[in-house]
Amino acid sequence: MADEERSVLPTDKSISFGVKRIESMREMSFENPEGFWTGIAEELFWFEKKGRIFSKAEEPPYGSWFENWKTNLCYNAVDRWAHSPRRNKVAFFWEGEPGDRRVITYAELHSDVNRMASALSELGVRAGDRITLYMPMIPELIISMLATVRLGAIHSVVFGGFTSQSLSDRINDSGSKLLITADGGWRRGKIIELKKIADEALGNSSPVEKVIVVRRTGHGVTMDPHRDIWYHDTCSRQTKKTDIEAVPGPHPSYILYTSGTTGKPKGAVHSTGGYMLWSYYTFKSVFDISEEDVFWCTADIGWVTGHTYVVYGPLLNGATSLIYEGAPDFPEQDRWWSLVERYGVSILYTAPTAIRSFMKAGDSWPGKHDLSSLRLLGTVGEPINPEAWQWYYRTIGRGRCPVVDTWWQTETGGIMISAQPGNGETPLKPGSATVPLPGVDACVVDEKGVPVGAGEKGFLAIRRPWPGQFMTLWGDRERFESVYFSRFKGMYYAADYAMQDSDGYFWLLGRADEVLKIAGHRIGTIELEDTLIMHPAVAESAVIGRSDAIKGETAVAFVILKQGHAPTQELRKELSNHVRSHMGPIAVPSSLYFVDRLPKTRSGKIMRRVIRAVVEEKSIGDISTLEDSASVDEANRAYIELKEQIERAG
Ligand code: WTA
Repeated sequence: MADEERSVLPTDKSISFGVKRIESMREMSFENPEGFWTGIAEELFWFEKKGRIFSKAEEPPYGSWFENWKTNLCYNAVDRWAHSPRRNKVAFFWEGEPGDRRVITYAELHSDVNRMASALSELGVRAGDRITLYMPMIPELIISMLATVRLGAIHSVVFGGFTSQSLSDRINDSGSKLLITADGGWRRGKIIELKKIADEALGNSSPVEKVIVVRRTGHGVTMDPHRDIWYHDTCSRQTKKTDIEAVPGPHPSYILYTSGTTGKPKGAVHSTGGYMLWSYYTFKSVFDISEEDVFWCTADIGWVTGHTYVVYGPLLNGATSLIYEGAPDFPEQDRWWSLVERYGVSILYTAPTAIRSFMKAGDSWPGKHDLSSLRLLGTVGEPINPEAWQWYYRTIGRGRCPVVDTWWQTETGGIMISAQPGNGETPLKPGSATVPLPGVDACVVDEKGVPVGAGEKGFLAIRRPWPGQFMTLWGDRERFESVYFSRFKGMYYAADYAMQDSDGYFWLLGRADEVLKIAGHRIGTIELEDTLIMHPAVAESAVIGRSDAIKGETAVAFVILKQGHAPTQELRKELSNHVRSHMGPIAVPSSLYFVDRLPKTRSGKIMRRVIRAVVEEKSIGDISTLEDSASVDEANRAYIELKEQIERAG
């Protein structure tokens, strides 16, 4: 970057006072974690506070937070404000894709949540029960989440873009006895048939006994009189008062399924006390929220970013947020910028993929709108390339707003590494997530778990427990321990490559496991391979990621066909449709090659490094050897063979 460009960015060392402050807070948090976290916990409401806030497990760094403290997430997010001068403050400005609008204050949210909680109790929902939510981005989704945790029940939100197969897998795994859905949702002017997909998912055998349906689109749907209930029918009959379940800190608040390195999605289970503290603290630290702000996190609530920064973080801080239901380019490419202007959004938090696609659409779209209300910009979900960072900073922020690049994961509950204006001004470096939040002990280690020096690439690990950490994988404690805590003794393994520079800044370099980030969404390559193998024509498959100018990454599939199947264009199409109907459109490979053989090590492990080098048209030496342990000769031979096969296939 030219010096002249750098000078407009807040990278000047003279303001690194903020970083020193963050460092001293971090030291304090390590020296006296009990005191540090208790101080923050005191800013939230607890029904009971007994004993220490952290109990160590035998094997650190996992353990249990607020074991003998009792609280309720919904009480802290809603009731606290509904009984305070903030009661008439706007909690949410909501806009549907067709342009319909709603404004919901904290007092209104309180009464809606109470009615829904009362409807749920009437249906027999009790603490610990699981409820699956399969809904569009409408206020009723948030109301349902809050009503669920109010009763101490556990929500499992399934992204509205998922297929009936994914929905049914998640319902069955969580053992949900209730499903909340909607007739449909709007996306790019069309109705997504949520109720119909839900009906397919429930099929003949499912633990679900009752289905609550929100009327959103108003088009005709089939209701099963013994099973299905309209949301408006049941809620309108309810009282505005329900009891609040005071639950212990480690009581699960939700399950959120995410892709991993096997075919089966994992259900990350989050706590109540620790998760609440983490959503509250990270939101406040990173977004430096004030009473006047209008915060907008564009993520879908179906992902963790939506859980923590559309729902819990803003509400726990008593903030005002904007929620938008539909597609960013509907009816035109300036929908988002018109929303920023209309609602006076001051903080915008989005994903690099969205930024890159707006960048491609051209500067004239944001140029049509007054974006002067913005004061802070954020990104999450994938590494942001410097060009996109610069465009965001200049074209959207008009060179006035810092960009906070926030690194975290479904498993971490909230932001871990980021610039944090709320803790101290952090000089920025485009492409770096900057420094860990106080309380987060992040490091970069080699294959043996030994910290590497400045400027060296390695694996990101977290050495100490933090309150927001997930507690387990639903029904799979063993996988929880082996995937995250066995790789490096005493550390949480994040499965990301990283590098720390000489200023201590972290650069996140992408996944170190077999997980892709397509438009910011986690797609397990093995899940995709398993899906392809389910097709009767496929004998074997290998999937890897290829970098993509907009989506960050796309899936490229290599397929070996069974005897008797010809590699035709029709079959290629059929395989794409097969993936679409099982995993959803995000997972459909951008290219699919039919091959006779796949590059494998002698022990039978697919050499992804070789496939990646071929696909990216790079030499093998340019791809990190951290990816597999094949010998140089082995890799070179496989590289040449795969290239030949692809050339032959055309
Ligand atoms: C990636 C999303 C670079 C990373 C909140 C991580 C990032 C995965 C960043 C988690 C960032 C997230 N820079 N990479 N700022 N933020 N990632 O669970 O690979 O959907 O492991 O959580 O996203 O994805 P998940």
